[in-house]
Amino acid sequence: MAAVKKIGVMTSGGDSPGMNACIRAVVRSAIYNNLEVYGINRGYEGMIDGDFFKMQSHAVSNIVQRGGTMLKTARSKRFMEKEGRQKAFERLKVAGIDGFVAIGGDGTFRGATVFEEEFGVTCIGVPGTIDNDLYGTDYTLGFDTAINTAIEAIDKIRDTADAHNRLFFVEVMGRDAGFIALSCAIAGGAEAVIIPETKTDIDNLIGILERGWYHKKSSAIVIVAEGDEAGGAYEIAKKVKEKFNEYDTRVTVLGHIQRGGNPTVRDRILGSRLGIAAVEALMEGKKNVMAGLINDEVVFTPFANATKHNLDINQDMLRLVDILSM
Ligand code: F6P
Repeated sequence: MAAVKKIGVMTSGGDSPGMNACIRAVVRSAIYNNLEVYGINRGYEGMIDGDFFKMQSHAVSNIVQRGGTMLKTARSKRFMEKEGRQKAFERLKVAGIDGFVAIGGDGTFRGATVFEEEFGVTCIGVPGTIDNDLYGTDYTLGFDTAINTAIEAIDKIRDTADAHNRLFFVEVMGRDAGFIALSCAIAGGAEAVIIPETKTDIDNLIGILERGWYHKKSSAIVIVAEGDEAGGAYEIAKKVKEKFNEYDTRVTVLGHIQRGGNPTVRDRILGSRLGIAAVEALMEGKKNVMAGLINDEVVFTPFANATKHNLDINQDMLRLVDILSM
């Protein structure tokens, strides 16, 4: 006997490619298991407003390949207040929804934890963010697509940088984490990477760029994580230029292009696997856990542990950037 009969599914926080594949998996596996499933539009905002609709299996046809999210998404200020959560609870109660799958990041899971404590509504999370900043999964949904999108852009920047003998500072997303930047630096053959997890030393960065210059490198690319404590790409470029001016310098901020586009195969499969795992977890009566994939196995991590605080940057990957930029 399943612990739930009617479930909801929503996306919350920043969208990420693969969210649609995950929604599809939740809907199809719920119906496969004779559960009723409701789409909740705009995350917690839609929950508060009762913006739900019953989903049949055809509602999720033709979305596995699409970026964005068919359920829309939002960052809800109202849900941070008890009054908002009370309204959301009443809406779910009227609709008879016993539990829900939330595809989002740690803010989404923090909200779900408080909601469960106050009103007993169960939630299973799926890590949906391009930032890859959640503990309890090797990869978050959308990270693979985002780094591939960024790399496509970085490769193009390299062509023009090389043609003009220029130094480029390329800023990538990641909020306060450097995972996107580090992967892009290695895959894009960057000369250096600047991330929030390590103290930024401008003189050291200049040393690396000088080394490349003396080795007759015709261009240089520095990948800057947007959340670095020394500032974004413009700020770092300015500080470097004050002391090192061998190359003509340009700055590119990749921005939201990294969040869109068709999900890669990896993200489609990750979303599909975690969506099904989340529904099965709700049926088994699990609560307040995030479904993730570690070493290709589904693993459930309590929301309280799934935050970035438990994650370390891979020091070996960091070392590679330095070796490879010789
Ligand atoms: O968390 C995903 C993310 O794209 C971050 O990398 C970035 O800092 C943030 O969202 C941007 O948010 P918004 O779309 O609200 O500007």
